[in-house]
Amino acid sequence: MADGHLYDLPSKEEIWVQQQWKTVDCRDKLNEDCRSEQEQNNLEHSSHSDVSAWSSTSPRNGRNAGLFPEWHLPLTIALVLALIVSIYTLAREVLHPFLMNNKNEFYRIPVLVVNRVLPVISITLLSLAYMPGIIAAFLQLYRGTKYQRFPAWLNTWMLRRKQFGLLCFFFAVMHALYSLSYPSRRSYRYKLLNWAYQQVKQQKENAWVEHDVWRMEIYVCLGILALAVLSILAIASVPSVSTSLSWREFQFIQRKLGYMALLLSTLHALVFAWNKWVDVNQFIWHTPPTFMISVLLPIIVLLCKVILLLPCLDKRLRKIRSGWQSSKRTQNKCVHL
Ligand code: HEM
Repeated sequence: MADGHLYDLPSKEEIWVQQQWKTVDCRDKLNEDCRSEQEQNNLEHSSHSDVSAWSSTSPRNGRNAGLFPEWHLPLTIALVLALIVSIYTLAREVLHPFLMNNKNEFYRIPVLVVNRVLPVISITLLSLAYMPGIIAAFLQLYRGTKYQRFPAWLNTWMLRRKQFGLLCFFFAVMHALYSLSYPSRRSYRYKLLNWAYQQVKQQKENAWVEHDVWRMEIYVCLGILALAVLSILAIASVPSVSTSLSWREFQFIQRKLGYMALLLSTLHALVFAWNKWVDVNQFIWHTPPTFMISVLLPIIVLLCKVILLLPCLDKRLRKIRSGWQSSKRTQNKCVHL
């Protein structure tokens, strides 16, 4: 199966790649022949405990180890994203009404603006947790072998998937808490009273809008389901839990449920947008709304996953991952020899 894991420990391919990096003899050689027999054995017999054992020898245990080194990349990406999306949302939802219509919407900053930023970061991090697996799969398909080192950037990215996933979960929980707090805000209550008054003035008896009711019921339901699946993934990433699972169980949770969480989150955002996709008023200062931007990356990842699941590609990838090499590659190797 072609993909990455969320919150997981390194896969066989990753262990192999990391061991490649760690092997001094192999550092300058790119072909697979430099793998020692011991490495091959490690790869063949790798399991959760192997990975844990491998991890315990990592630099994290060193005296001069940095503070949370494996979190640097995901945290930096999350912070940069937060900054960009905050400025973007502030400009659209606070500055635009203030400058254009002299409307004071600054009260939106603490909850509403923050709650636009949180889900965008969350869903982007979730996509970034699965993207390296997709890229690695295409690379392996292109190369026709798994015995070739991934580029260093891809290797690092793959090793940070767990952190990307856990950060995504953190922002999703925050987003859920912010969302559930909406009706208890004073601004919301005043708005509700004002709407009711307007309705009485217009002599309207019923404010029920059928499609809007369905839209909200469905997107909230999808959001809750997505969060529930993400919680399972987060729990399964706890070392004591992951070591108690068999390899197959672990794979199932990290791969199948991970993509399910991504699909549910994307559907949640798409249903939230509903008919706003065709509403030109959503384009403030000619900029698209955040929901449009936030679903782009997840859709790309999901589409790539669907492509990789096509029987012709899936079969070839499975073969490559079980050690098969394309004839083109073996011919090349013969020429080099
Ligand atoms: C209990 C779970 C959840 C609830 C109750 C919930 C609720 C909401 C609400 C009320 C909105 C509209 C926000 C607004 O109008 O300002 C929204 C939007 C959104 N949610 Fe969730 N959500 C949940 C889980 C998730 C999860 C797990 C993700 C993704 C990881 C997610 C991603 C999004 C996205 C991308 C948007 C569109 C934001 C925008 O650009 O305007 N949500 N959600």
